[in-house]
Amino acid sequence: MLLTHIRKVLRRPLASYPLSEGVTNLPSMPIRDLRALEFSQRIADPLLVIDVQRRSFGADKDCTILTLGNATGRIESAPFWGAEQAAVAGVAAGDVGQVIGEVAEYRGKRQLKVTSFRVLPRDSVDYAGLMPSIGDIEPFWKRLDQWREDIAGPRLKAVLALFFDDPDFRQQFEQCPASPMGHHAQLGGLLKHVWEVAHIGRSIAASSGADRDLVVAGALLHDIGKVESYRWNGVFGYTDRGRLHGHVVLGSLMLDRRLREAPEPVCTDTEEMILQHLILSHHGRTELGAAVPPMTLEAEVLHYADNASAKSASMADALGDSENFTGDELVSSRSIWQLDKRRAWRGQSDWGAPGP
Ligand SMILES: [Fe+2]
Ligand SMILES: [Fe+2]
Repeated sequence: MLLTHIRKVLRRPLASYPLSEGVTNLPSMPIRDLRALEFSQRIADPLLVIDVQRRSFGADKDCTILTLGNATGRIESAPFWGAEQAAVAGVAAGDVGQVIGEVAEYRGKRQLKVTSFRVLPRDSVDYAGLMPSIGDIEPFWKRLDQWREDIAGPRLKAVLALFFDDPDFRQQFEQCPASPMGHHAQLGGLLKHVWEVAHIGRSIAASSGADRDLVVAGALLHDIGKVESYRWNGVFGYTDRGRLHGHVVLGSLMLDRRLREAPEPVCTDTEEMILQHLILSHHGRTELGAAVPPMTLEAEVLHYADNASAKSASMADALGDSENFTGDELVSSRSIWQLDKRRAWRGQSDWGAPGP
């Protein structure tokens, strides 16, 4: 039921969303931009519970803090202290609450002082405005399917078809986020990330002499394991397999399984080894989750294309998140884990020219 609804969300053409600053995937229902909330502002909105933290500071000093969000962003609640916690007892990540509250200030940051929280029945919830999504998926599929079609080698094409001609796999792939909290943490984020990796990889291949078709195949296959590693049923998170095996290993196993299940050999043993190497090495270094470092030109290109997509998306997200900055400060007030604990600078210039 929920996944069917998510599919409808992703199918909705981008043009049907009332676009607002920096957000390209807002649904047609009115939705409050959480990034634009001001101190003392009152709200009464349905919000998704992204996280529930229960903290204890000693006897009779327990509190609960909710992280609440919608497609535009997130905000933490002020702590529910002591008996106030009864109002949110049993509330879990993935629930949606009708929230009434006022934006308060704590150490220069916004937090929501919740005065009323009522959990809404799941089947009454319109998740369209609550989970971040990439919006219309069709342009991404169109380009990726075209690049797949352009591949010259029939065996390489046939391996990709084992996944990308399978409607069930496509549905999972187009819904899956590229990460639960990092880069492209959106419904459809994996599809967009893979489109970026293929796009960047093709460019590097053109200038480096790498086999462009193999780079495209690597882009399409490198993160297939994420569809088994992540869940997106109301909130983004990990599956047990994702936690225990990780998406690199799961992707390798998925490729192995599909090749074994094919009625006839789809490619040679050497070709299978080359494709497995692309999946297993795409994180670049073993301390970053790669089983082996890249040892082919195409694996090297794939690794840097993957990183370019992930890091540039994370930088753009960090600069667009007002929670990272205090007042008018240009340098972020905190180190950002998605950027390997770097800070970000949001200054800019028009360079003196109005433009054409
Ligand atoms: Fe990956
Ligand atoms: Fe990736």
